Amino acid sequence: MPTLNDLARSHTSLGEADVEHLHSLVSDWQLLADLSFADLVLWAPAKDGTGWLAIAQMRPTTGPTSLQDDVVGTFAGPEDQRLLDVARDERRIWRESDPDWTNGVPVRIEGIPVTRANRVIAVIERCTNLNSARTPSRLELTYLQGADDLARMVAEGTFPFPGADAMLVRSPRVGDGLLRLGKSGRVIYASPNAQSAYRRLGLAADLIGSELGVVTAGLVASDEPLDESLMVVAAGRVPREAEVDGNGSVVQLRSIPLIVGGSRTGALVLVRDVTELRRRERELMTKDATIREIHHRVKNNLQTVAALLRLQARRLRAPEARAALDEAVRRVGSIAVVHETLSHAPEEVVDFDEIADRVAMMAGEVSAAEVRVIPKITGSFGQLSAAVATPLAMVLTELLQNALQHGFPHAREQGLLEVVAVREPERLTVTVADSGVGLPDGFDLESATSLGLQIVRTLVVGELGGRLRIMPRPGGGTEAVVDLPVGYEPER
Ligand SMILES: Nc1ncnc2c1ncn2[C@@H]1O[C@H](COP(=O)(O)OP(=O)(O)O)[C@@H](O)[C@H]1O
Ligand SMILES: [Mg+2]
Repeated sequence: MPTLNDLARSHTSLGEADVEHLHSLVSDWQLLADLSFADLVLWAPAKDGTGWLAIAQMRPTTGPTSLQDDVVGTFAGPEDQRLLDVARDERRIWRESDPDWTNGVPVRIEGIPVTRANRVIAVIERCTNLNSARTPSRLELTYLQGADDLARMVAEGTFPFPGADAMLVRSPRVGDGLLRLGKSGRVIYASPNAQSAYRRLGLAADLIGSELGVVTAGLVASDEPLDESLMVVAAGRVPREAEVDGNGSVVQLRSIPLIVGGSRTGALVLVRDVTELRRRERELMTKDATIREIHHRVKNNLQTVAALLRLQARRLRAPEARAALDEAVRRVGSIAVVHETLSHAPEEVVDFDEIADRVAMMAGEVSAAEVRVIPKITGSFGQLSAAVATPLAMVLTELLQNALQHGFPHAREQGLLEVVAVREPERLTVTVADSGVGLPDGFDLESATSLGLQIVRTLVVGELGGRLRIMPRPGGGTEAVVDLPVGYEPER
């Protein structure tokens, strides 16, 4: 389905600013559709005067649609063409005298010129399904009257409001609750939902007849002087959104000043109770904090385990047994590093470069007494999910350990130990290369039964679905290559 942009650029001769105006109209015309109980189609004149092209469409959420099909991207038929021409040429809202029966239901068709900088740049066709029109209630009359004012503002070029930006994630809609203010800012109509929202804010008195700005500011729980900006929004003086927090409830307001023919006729104020929504957001926020706290505790516990193993190792005489426990200390330590990083991360995603640095430092520390080789890391691991980071930290620990322990078996030895990470969006390749003594004769990764490489193989192949190779390094020493699928790199 082509977008408004595509259609406007390829099939019309509208300029940049005109298209921008239509964008902001379309981002806000749900309001007009809902107040009108009608479908809206935005028509723009096609290039070279070849007719009208539908570039956007909106259905009402307050009533049934009269346009089952999508019309965006189609050209106007002769009937519509006439109406659109008239609305443009006479620069006024134009209504067909007879309903249209094309789709088997009576539909009233109107053309509303869209004006910018004193020119009609497009026409909105408003189609009202008359089958569902009953004797209108107070609510419906108020909606329709608001719709008329808004339509006139579109035709006069004063709606959408220039430079008005939607501040909140989802603006209140007509169905959420509606207040109609008169010229002086007093409430002349309040929908049942709007009444309830103000009740929840703690209003005991009747809304009808009250000055909404003053009343609203008075409901805000605070000892401070009245909130001026809230007062101005609630009084319907400026087109803006605001949130009212009082009596344990939170209500979102959106005010739409109505200025027709140069004079203020009042305002519409849309009202939405967002108490539950805000409460859920707060809950989610504390859930994140809880997850971080748990990572923090897991890290502490792992560090305790490592400390206990270290104590136990010191009491042992047999060097082999001590070495085994030391190794266990390092394995546990590398997992603790990942949890520590996760305890600071807002999501279950970590910057692995940080972890790699710490793991390399830990590997270097253990062997510092015997070997003068310091691991050097180049390239970048990027962001990794916790599910990949934990096993990978262990794998890196084992490979570095082997290089330091087996590659440079003699004390005070010098040499090169390099970790190279190459990250693509969905793959990560890590090479651990040392310039040490090289693999023993007859080394075979597949048949190695020693614990370290068995752990590495299980994690890389079994858990991470990657590949592992260990081979002689060109120029002497050993090279281990781990190649993993890691999913998309999330945006920062
Ligand atoms: N970088 C390396 N340089 C030389 N030999 C290595 C290297 N990595 C692994 N090896 C050989 O592979 C064997 C198995 O390693 P591993 O499974 O980690 O067990 P461990 O380290 O406990 O001996 C080592 O004993 C060593 O002989
Ligand atoms: Mg080992």
